[in-house]
Amino acid sequence: MDSKIKNELIEAARLARERAYAPYSNYKVGAAILASSGKIYTGCNFENASFGAGTCAERVALGAALAAGEREFSAVACIGGDDAITPCGICRQALSEFGDMIIYCGSADGEVREYTLAQLLPFGFSL
Ligand code: THU
Repeated sequence: MDSKIKNELIEAARLARERAYAPYSNYKVGAAILASSGKIYTGCNFENASFGAGTCAERVALGAALAAGEREFSAVACIGGDDAITPCGICRQALSEFGDMIIYCGSADGEVREYTLAQLLPFGFSL
């Protein structure tokens, strides 16, 4: 991937992380997804006093992109805390609905690891 776009995607996730609403875990996550249109959509995690009502940053970003009419994606960046975050199992499955894509996994202090979704979710469920 073009390194300028990669850096934009990671920076968008980093900015989104600052808007996370995580008063219960204090674990803030930001995500950004790159659509085939070239647009980037962002999301942050939000938590709730009723714990199960919260949602991960990656699915918030995916939902924002889908609501804007996007259906094809080439990359996602997610930024977590002290260590590079990898998306949770539900987020991997949610993203896999839209095929394989690059996943940039970053920490708050700048470390970034690169995977493919297929590496992170071998044998994911599909109909
Ligand atoms: N979280 C995410 O936003 N993305 C992930 O991939 C894993 C976990 C959030 C959910 C919850 O608000 C907090 O991190 C701690 O689990």
